[in-house]
Amino acid sequence: MNAKASQATRATQRRYDRLAPFYDRLDRMGQPGWRRRVFQETVGQVLEIGVGTGKNFPFYKPGTSVTAVDISPRMLEVARRKLDAARQKNPGSGEGIGDGGPVPVKLMLTDAQSLPFPDASFDCAVATFVFCSVPDPVLGLQEIRRVLAPGGRLVLLEHMRRDDRIVGPLMDLLNPLVVRMVGANINRRTVENVRKADFAVDQVDDLSMNIVKLILAHRD
Ligand SMILES: C[S@@+](CC[C@H](N)C(=O)[O-])C[C@H]1O[C@@H](n2cnc3c(N)ncnc32)[C@H](O)[C@@H]1O
Repeated sequence: MNAKASQATRATQRRYDRLAPFYDRLDRMGQPGWRRRVFQETVGQVLEIGVGTGKNFPFYKPGTSVTAVDISPRMLEVARRKLDAARQKNPGSGEGIGDGGPVPVKLMLTDAQSLPFPDASFDCAVATFVFCSVPDPVLGLQEIRRVLAPGGRLVLLEHMRRDDRIVGPLMDLLNPLVVRMVGANINRRTVENVRKADFAVDQVDDLSMNIVKLILAHRD
């Protein structure tokens, strides 16, 4: 990672640390139906990138097990509290959480751009609203590809640049301002980035205004 990306990574971490106590109250991204769809696609050993405060926990699919990573210690603290509360409510479930039945979860403080896992460790990787703020998204996606087993799936729910002649250029224009205010890029070309990271894209579904999309891809 170059110096600029490392600096941006630290800034992202600080920003989400500050946001963590309010995130669940403020965040309106990701309708439950979208999140449910993402996790319907998961299989086996799942890696969740940018788990944040654990907004996806209710949607984890029984029969899978999840390693959930994030770069922000404070976001992870909120997620950890949710796991502990689930464990107290249902003492037999170990580290498990999920509305459909307890799914084992391991939380880790980790940067998506440099994952501490051996090659081919996971069957599936998911991220929801994360690749707008990873400083080097292609590097992050390449790392995910490396830790996926051959044939492994990538499932992304992301907002991205609208590919048209009016809104797209407007998003480019506003992006520096939005990054300064909330830290997220609104003009990422995430489908292209997935291809650049050498994934085969299987499906792209437009969920809202040609901006929020579900991307299904796999590594050969
Ligand atoms: C907008 S929040 C989304 C959180 C959660 N996925 C959700 O849907 O609510 C973005 C999350 O990505 C994390 N993140 C950003 N850059 C990251 C990186 N390089 N590695 C790991 N996590 C990262 C942030 O700390 C934050 O928790």
